[in-house]
Amino acid sequence: MPANAIRFLRRGQIVEYGDVAPMRTVLDYLRLEEKSRGTKEGCNEGDCGACTVAIGSIRDGRLVYEPANACILLMGHLHGKELVTVDDLAHGGTLHPVQQAMVELHGSQCGFCTPGFVMSLFTLYHQGRKPSRAEINDHLAGNLCRCTGYRPIIDAAEKSCTGKPLDRWVLATSDTLEKLGRIAMGGDVFVGNSDGFIAVPRKPDTLARLADDHPDAVIVAGATDVGLWITKQMRDISKVIHVGSVTELHEISATPEGLSIGAAATYAEAEEALAAIDPDVGEVLRRIGSKQVRSSGTIGGNIANGSPIGDTPPVLIALGATITLRQRDDERVLPLEDFFIAYGKQDRLPGELVWRIDVPRLKGNEHFRAYKISKRFDQDISAVMGAFKFATDGRYVTEACIAFGGMAATPKCASHAEAAAMAIDLDRPESWSEAIAAIGQDFAPISDMRATASYRLDVAKALLRKALTEIAGTVRGETRVVGTRGKAA
Ligand SMILES: Cc1cc2nc3c(=O)[nH]c(=O)nc-3n(C[C@H](O)[C@H](O)[C@H](O)COP(=O)(O)OP(=O)(O)OC[C@H]3O[C@@H](n4cnc5c(N)ncnc54)[C@H](O)[C@@H]3O)c2cc1C
Ligand code: FES
Ligand code: FES
Repeated sequence: MPANAIRFLRRGQIVEYGDVAPMRTVLDYLRLEEKSRGTKEGCNEGDCGACTVAIGSIRDGRLVYEPANACILLMGHLHGKELVTVDDLAHGGTLHPVQQAMVELHGSQCGFCTPGFVMSLFTLYHQGRKPSRAEINDHLAGNLCRCTGYRPIIDAAEKSCTGKPLDRWVLATSDTLEKLGRIAMGGDVFVGNSDGFIAVPRKPDTLARLADDHPDAVIVAGATDVGLWITKQMRDISKVIHVGSVTELHEISATPEGLSIGAAATYAEAEEALAAIDPDVGEVLRRIGSKQVRSSGTIGGNIANGSPIGDTPPVLIALGATITLRQRDDERVLPLEDFFIAYGKQDRLPGELVWRIDVPRLKGNEHFRAYKISKRFDQDISAVMGAFKFATDGRYVTEACIAFGGMAATPKCASHAEAAAMAIDLDRPESWSEAIAAIGQDFAPISDMRATASYRLDVAKALLRKALTEIAGTVRGETRVVGTRGKAA
């Protein structure tokens, strides 16, 4: 029998939460039910960070704390995790070190953003290493402040995040690990009945069976899309199946060909392994949303949502990735590009799950480049995303995979440009022109609030030229302002 309550750790106690509505967000739980109102509601769509909370979980046997946007996090996500909020930090009249530093360095004026910043700093404090200024900037990119300005907040991070955390959470680590482990032993969770429920299966077979039995249920991974269906589109969702408690779906393993990534692996979990394929893959991941988004959002969700502007699909398509889909006990594998059929239409049957993504590593004669073009550097969706893989024989291109996001109704390869690239001699830039011009045959992009059609086309052509320029190696160190290969700016 599955348990009929979500169980999570709160202030050292295991909370059993059985009276939970499928659409309940963690922010509403905190503010409306628990009445912990330190956590603020700003944008309610994952952008501003005012609602940031820390989520503690066990990873590779260690307790880690990651920031998350409570406004778009669903309660089912908390099962087997610890929830820490700004209301918990001060104790017996003493502020937490990150709060104390914010006070001493004047990191707060109106204070509306402050609880979110404090919680992001709390997770940085717990990383156990002294961050560089660039790492602090990266860590705080998902927290917006309208009046203090960022310098004093960054100073507070430098002062408090010393690499040697020692607070109540550190002292309670073994107790926390024991309690979270105990919850994990509890198995599958099913709250509700067949007309409306939250399911948090732990066993892969239970997940596959539930999804097949309830093809009308919403599959939820990190909810960085689904959360907005609730808070912005006001959709009514009565059945929710969470995939995040199935350990197998978080596994990232080396294969003879490259890397196999479980669909529920978060961006944060997958970042290091994917960056090892090529630094540009790591750089693309670093620029997805914010730390909060990357700690919840998953690679599988970024594919399953079928968005034409998702950042990982063009990268994975160019690398030659395949996707494994599972329905009950049956699995099928297809090239990732074939998964995307048309706008809003993917090759996925009702009740079928995205299960795994396999990414080949680069061969010795293969060169990869990827570039994200967006209006803002951080926390922005792509206008155009270009990913390129070229195989070379000496100075000649022998194979080309050129994939774009933001240029068509689906993430898609530029087949005309790929064919024309076969004539490329890296030492003769005039031989690149045919492939660059062919992009105009491959795409007829749309104009929208992110970019005009002509801008998109110009950018796509320029990105191909940039990739070839970098691979040819004739221009060194001058093609990028930030995100130089293998080194965060
Ligand atoms: C503030 C903010 C910034 C963002 N920035 C970026 C960005 O820079 N780049 C970018 O690409 N995206 C961005 N996104 C979008 C979002 O983070 C991604 O699309 C994310 O990968 C979705 O993953 P998820 O796990 O949160 O999916 P969810 O929201 O849980 O699910 C998304 C969709 O996939 C389905 N689904 C999820 N997992 C499975 C599965 N295993 N099998 C079948 N169906 C499944 C769900 O039913 C749903 O239809 C941003 C979102 C926010 C809120
Ligand atoms: S309220 Fe803005 S990110 Fe949650
Ligand atoms: S202190 Fe006012 S928004 Fe940051």
